[in-house]
Amino acid sequence: MVEGEVEGRVKMINNSDDRMSELKAFDDTKSGVKGLVDGGVTKIPALFQHPLDKFPNASKTEHTMIPVIDLEGVAKDPITRQQVVSRIKEASETWGFFQVLNHGIPESVLEEMKEGIRRFFEQDIEVKKQVYTRDDMKPFVYNSNFDLYSSPALNWRDSFSCQLAPEPPKPQDLPEVCRDILLEYGTNVTKLGITLFELFSESLNLHSNYLRDMELGITEQIRCAGHYYPPCPEPELAIGTTKHSDASFLTVLLQDHIGGLQILHNDKWIDVRPVPGTLVVNIGDLLQLITNDRFKSVQHRVLANLIGPRVSFACFMGSSVKPSSKLFGPIKELLSEDSPPKYKETTAAEYVAYFCAKGLGIPVLEHFRI
Ligand code: OGA
Ligand code: NI
Repeated sequence: MVEGEVEGRVKMINNSDDRMSELKAFDDTKSGVKGLVDGGVTKIPALFQHPLDKFPNASKTEHTMIPVIDLEGVAKDPITRQQVVSRIKEASETWGFFQVLNHGIPESVLEEMKEGIRRFFEQDIEVKKQVYTRDDMKPFVYNSNFDLYSSPALNWRDSFSCQLAPEPPKPQDLPEVCRDILLEYGTNVTKLGITLFELFSESLNLHSNYLRDMELGITEQIRCAGHYYPPCPEPELAIGTTKHSDASFLTVLLQDHIGGLQILHNDKWIDVRPVPGTLVVNIGDLLQLITNDRFKSVQHRVLANLIGPRVSFACFMGSSVKPSSKLFGPIKELLSEDSPPKYKETTAAEYVAYFCAKGLGIPVLEHFRI
């Protein structure tokens, strides 16, 4: 037991019999990690202590910048489009991650989205508590650690999530402090998603509309998550987000200037350094599955930071919590005698349910491998 900590903190107890009640006590505060920090916590509670990772950080001097792809002109100029398509192909095969510039979402919308996330998490706790839930079917879900009861160590972050597309959320279901910007961002990111799915289809030598037309428009489902990473008093002992890959087709991520996002590349952690005005795009597990391993869904994590809060906004394309019966598996056009299917067919909902049940950090794709 650590002495002198303020009220509301979670006691340091390693006994697993007590772990459940500790988790429950933390959950019941409905105040998340921000609540601990606001309460003045100076040592991280045992629930958040993370095992050391076996992979080293890449040295800062190595040339390890994920590709930045400029989308300027892709809609108008066929030569530019061809160049972008081949850069996307290369980035998807080798990195699984890239950043996009001139993606069509105005800088003011990106800035306001980050502000909206800050406003949500920094509003009066009593207002915030009203939308605290673990029921993913609610139109707006705020909580800390969606996998609280299944993960081995908690993440130093709080999150909200909701469905942005195919239908926009009802305004009255969204918190007032970020309602307008969520709707505006949703419209913008839906358009960007369409462009990206076209470019990805072309990079697989498929018809532009292939991925969009496939699976009854499943790629137009967008689930979003606004993340808030409060400053952490002992960042080396905690983790912002456990290493994982995404249960989406594609993820479009907006991050602020703080940094901490890293991807696992050739067994080393590489920083995805914030570049103002860009968005991070990464391949999700479902795109790896349907491309039969051609495109890589790469593991990534977020370090806890001393200087936050850090905010980020992830849009998971092709991800929905609603059940759907549509099965999909490796794309037939990409298969041959030399390249037989590597995965079983599944539904997006089954995949996401498995992902959520296992908790962050458990490799999910392997479960569907033939
Ligand atoms: C995610 C994710 C990274 C970040 O939400 O899946 O990886 O920077 N987020 O918050
Ligand atoms: Ni992720």
